[in-house]
Amino acid sequence: MSEPTDWNQPPRIKVPPPGSRSRRLAERLARVESRNVTFLADDFPIFWEKSRGSNVWDADGNRYVDLSGGFGVAVAGHRNRRVMQAIRRQIGRLPHGMGDVHPPALKVKLLEALAAVSPIPDPQIVLTCSGAEAVEVALKTARLATGKPGVIAFGGAYHGLTYGALSVTDRDLFRAPFADQLNPHVLRAPYPDPYRPRPGLDPDDPGRSALAHLETLLESDAGEHVGAVIVEPIQGRGGDIVPPLGFLPGLAGLCRERGRLLIVDEIYTGLGRAGHWFACEHEGVVPDLLCVGKALSGTLPIAACLGSSAVMDAWPPSKGEAIHTTTFLGNPLACAAGIASLGEIERRGLVERSATEGERWIGELRETLGRHPTVGDIRGRGLMIGIDLVIDRSTRESNTRLAGHMITESLRRGWILLAGGPAGNVLSLSPPLSLSQDLMRAATRMLDDVIGGVPV
Ligand SMILES: Cc1ncc(COP(=O)(O)O)c(C=O)c1O
Repeated sequence: MSEPTDWNQPPRIKVPPPGSRSRRLAERLARVESRNVTFLADDFPIFWEKSRGSNVWDADGNRYVDLSGGFGVAVAGHRNRRVMQAIRRQIGRLPHGMGDVHPPALKVKLLEALAAVSPIPDPQIVLTCSGAEAVEVALKTARLATGKPGVIAFGGAYHGLTYGALSVTDRDLFRAPFADQLNPHVLRAPYPDPYRPRPGLDPDDPGRSALAHLETLLESDAGEHVGAVIVEPIQGRGGDIVPPLGFLPGLAGLCRERGRLLIVDEIYTGLGRAGHWFACEHEGVVPDLLCVGKALSGTLPIAACLGSSAVMDAWPPSKGEAIHTTTFLGNPLACAAGIASLGEIERRGLVERSATEGERWIGELRETLGRHPTVGDIRGRGLMIGIDLVIDRSTRESNTRLAGHMITESLRRGWILLAGGPAGNVLSLSPPLSLSQDLMRAATRMLDDVIGGVPV
């Protein structure tokens, strides 16, 4: 497969990050932004000023390689040329519309483009301004379509932080302060994690026992009030957890048999990230409702909930007031970016590239990093890869401290990395799908060098 001609430059660090400009910006930020938003420390963060392809420049002129793809958004590369052209063209014509009243013409084109790649045939779609809002729409749709308030969500799930989404997200840090305001009808089921078996699941067959657990839950008194199950086909922020083969089709079958809706949250995995247009297609699963976001525009805030018309027709026709909408619904700039971004994914064969390069890189990472006793597991699909760091392999105890060190040391060398998982011990790679092989090899060498330099 040919190498992308996009920007794929190695890091170039002129001043040790964070440099003086980033530090000054951090001081100013601390005065005006709520203290919960941006983590500020002596060695963190850098302030981004420019991006292109796989590269990001900070306020001090340092050039980085972004192995996070800006939270998995920049699938076709940061500041992709065609996407930027589309936004520029649109900004000169119509930068804002009236999404649910007098919609921008472009909204139709984006919905058609999204429908054309959807695993749900002839979907009906609601555009939203964030991933969490797309999850809200899916939950509201399920409520309308089933008449039931209950939802089954999985342990370790991340679906966003607005109230509805937070009620299905599973992380105490996010939930505890608001626990008494969250939907009380959410039941939690264990997600099958092949590496670190969850309590209550058979470590030898976590997929099958997770399904048995779900079946019991659905048969319980509380299960009667459940209308839908929401699942990430690969848990992203939960630590890049790929469930065993057979789990998702089993879940889809169970939902079908028991008359529950299956909501697949592909906000992270969708649009090429996991080596398919949608990760659920890996095993031929067709959900009732599907959430997409992040890569949809590769730049601007837009996401969507797609559903079969049988389910989506639970929404009443608008008689002048949509019962779910927002001021910026179907923003024309975001629509233009979305159409161009979907076009770039297709034109450059990024889905196929994600599959082949992901497999190759995972193999390379396993071969090179696998010799370190603190590397417990390297897993993923496509260019959604997790490196699970442990204290030692026999206990599989999470090594949060090493992950923290890896992030700051990589940054010092010009590589942007994020950590995931409940313990923050999983290095999470979700780069632009156009990241060159040269940079993947250089990243492997860098990670090997940093891990090798830490005494066990
Ligand atoms: C699977 C999944 N669902 C939902 C969300 C929330 O999306 P947003 O941050 O755009 O609200 C995320 C964000 O990381 C996600 O990974």
